[in-house]
Amino acid sequence: MKTVRMPLPGVSLGCDYNPEQWSPDVWREDAALMRQAGVGLVAVNIFGWSNLEPSPGEYRFDDLDEVIELMHANGIKINLGTGTSSPPPWLTTQHPEVLPVAADGTVRFPGGRQAWCPSSPVFRKRALDLVERVARRYGEHPAIALWHVSNELGCHNALCYCETSAEGFRTWLRGRYGKIETLNEAWGTSFWSQRYGAWAEIQPPRLALSLRNPAQLVDFQRFSSENLLDYYRAETAILRAHSTVPVTTNFMVTAHIRNLDYWSWAPEMDVVANDHYLDHRLGEPVPELSFAADLTRGLAGGRPWMLMEQAAGAVNWQPHNLTKAPGEMIRNSLTHVARGADSICFFQWRASAQGAEKFHSAMLPHAGTDTVAWREVLKLSETLGRIGEVAGSEVESDVALLFSWESWWSAEGEARPSQAVTYLDQVHASHRALRANGVTVDVIAPGTDLTKYKLVVVPGLYMISDADAQAITDYVAAGGKLLVTFFSGIVDERDRIRLGGYPGAFRDVLGVVAEEFGPLLPGAEVDLSDGTTGTLWTERLRTTTATALATYENGPMTGLPAITRNAYGKGTAWYVATKTDMSDLLKEAAGATGEKNDQLEVVRRKNGDRGYLFVINHSPDPVELPAAGHDLVTDQPVTGVLRVEGGGVAVVREEAS
Ligand code: GAL
Repeated sequence: MKTVRMPLPGVSLGCDYNPEQWSPDVWREDAALMRQAGVGLVAVNIFGWSNLEPSPGEYRFDDLDEVIELMHANGIKINLGTGTSSPPPWLTTQHPEVLPVAADGTVRFPGGRQAWCPSSPVFRKRALDLVERVARRYGEHPAIALWHVSNELGCHNALCYCETSAEGFRTWLRGRYGKIETLNEAWGTSFWSQRYGAWAEIQPPRLALSLRNPAQLVDFQRFSSENLLDYYRAETAILRAHSTVPVTTNFMVTAHIRNLDYWSWAPEMDVVANDHYLDHRLGEPVPELSFAADLTRGLAGGRPWMLMEQAAGAVNWQPHNLTKAPGEMIRNSLTHVARGADSICFFQWRASAQGAEKFHSAMLPHAGTDTVAWREVLKLSETLGRIGEVAGSEVESDVALLFSWESWWSAEGEARPSQAVTYLDQVHASHRALRANGVTVDVIAPGTDLTKYKLVVVPGLYMISDADAQAITDYVAAGGKLLVTFFSGIVDERDRIRLGGYPGAFRDVLGVVAEEFGPLLPGAEVDLSDGTTGTLWTERLRTTTATALATYENGPMTGLPAITRNAYGKGTAWYVATKTDMSDLLKEAAGATGEKNDQLEVVRRKNGDRGYLFVINHSPDPVELPAAGHDLVTDQPVTGVLRVEGGGVAVVREEAS
C-alpha cells in the first residue's frame, strides 16, 4: 500500500498566502485572523522568486524569514514553495532563450506567469540555484511541514516548441524507439511522405499547413509530460538533500487542463495534492467536482490526499464568475473530504488588491470579516475540526472507471469522426449516472488490478494497449461486469487502428463488431427501441455473440443495435454505441438500489471496521436516510433515520458492525 505523508494530523484547513503583496502590519493582522479561522497550513513563497533574488545572485530572505517566524509563533505550519514557478524579469531579459515558444513558432513573452521553457538548461540552473538556497535555509525549520515544488507545473507552459525542446524531443524519441525505422513504423510515416532518414530531421509538431501526424502529436505530449516530471525530480532531489519534510506539487485535475499524465507523476508525490475550481462553463459543475475528487483519490492509490486549492467564492478566469451561495463552499469542501481529502486549502488567504487576480475570491474578502464569506470560512473550520477523526480512513467503492490521459490526448486528435465527441464528456456522463444512483466510483488507470470490483466502466477509451485490454477481458471472463461506451478500444499505443472492425480491442468481450461510425449532427436525435433517445453518435453495429437491448428506430442505422449485452466467460459485458441516458443501465450493472437523486451524495469512508457515512444534500429540500451512529457535524446521535436539511451536510460515525 502506498504510504502517504500528510503535513498535519486531522482534516486540516489551509491556504495560499502571498504576503509579498502586503505590508508587515497586514501580516500581523493576517496571523491573528488565521488563528481565529483555524488555519493550520499556509503555502508561502509560491511566486517569491523576484523578491528573494531581486538581481542575479543577490538573495534577500528577510521578509520570508519574518513571515515564517510569524507563522511559527502563531502555531501555523508552512507549506513552503520553492519559489520557482515564475522567473523574475531580470532572467528573461538576460536570457530570452528561456521563454517558451508556442506551436506557431512565436515566443510567449513575460508579463504573465510561468514564462519558461521546461527544457531550458539556463532556466533549470537558475531555478535550482534558488531551490538550493531555500532548502538550505529552511530545510530544518520546525514550522516547515511540506514542500511545494513550483506551482501547477505545466499549467501554461507544458508544451514548448523551441529548438532546445526540439532537441530534447529527439533525445526522448531515441530512448523510446532506438532505431529511426522503428519510429517510422510507429508514426506511420509512409503516409504523406513523412519518412525520416535521421533523427535530426524530426521536429516537434509545430503548426503545419494541414493536419499533423497524430502519432507525433501524442508522443510530443508524452515527452512533454515526462520532461516536466524530470524537472520536478530535479527540484525534489535538492529538497531531500536538505530536509526530511514531505514533498509535493499541486496537480490540476480539472475539466480544462490535460497536459500531464498524472498516473506517472503521482507515485513520486509524498502526498497527492490537487487544485480544483468549480467550472461553470460545464453544464453541471458539481458532479464534475465529485469526479475530479474520485480521480485524485485514484492518483493517491486510494489513500488520503490534499485539496491544495479551491475558491471560497468566485474565480476570475471564467467568462462568468459565479459566486457561491451560503453553504455551497462547505458542501463542496465536504464532498472532497467524503471522497478522500484530509486537507482542505484555498487559493488564497486574503483577496489581492492588485494584479491579475484582484477579482478572485479569497477566505478574507476585500470587504473584510463582516461578510458572509468570512463567516462561511469560520463555519467550515469548525466543521473540519469536528470531523477530524475521519482522517486516514479510506473510501469504500466496488465500481471502477478507467481513465487515461494518453487516451484523452489521442482521442481528441485534429481529424476524427466527430469534433463533438470529447473524452471528458463521455467520462463525466458515466460518472454522473453512477453518482446519481448513489454509486461511489474509484477512478483508476488502465492496467490496475480489477479483481476487487464488481463493475468496471470504460467510457470512450480510444487508446489502449494489448496488455491492458487483455486484463479487462480476463476480468470479465473470471466473472466481472464491464460496461464500455462508444469510441473505445480503437487504437493501440502507436495510435494505429486495430483492424477488423470496431471497437477493436473489445470486440470479443463485447460480442459485437461495427463496420462504420455514424456520427450525428449536433441537435440531431434518433429514437431507440427502449423509449430513450440517442445523440451524437451511432455505429453500423452487428452482434456476434451479444444480445441487442435496444435498436435504432430511425436515423442512419435504423434497426441496428445501439445497446448490447454479452455473456463472456463467467461475466457480462455491455456496449453503449450512442450517447444516451445510461442511468438505468448503470444502475442495473452496478446492482444499485434506491431512488435516483443527482442532488445527493452518499459516500462512506472506512477505517478498519469503523464507517463514516458522508451525506451531502445539494438540494433545497431535506432528505431522510437510514443510518445509525453519531453525526459529527451536529454532534447528535442518529438512531435509525438521518435527516439532512436542504443544503446541509452530515458525517455519521456509524456504529461498528
Ligand atoms: C491556480 C493557481 C493559483 C491561482 C488560482 C486562481 O491555477 O495555482 O496561483 O492563480 O489558480 O484560481
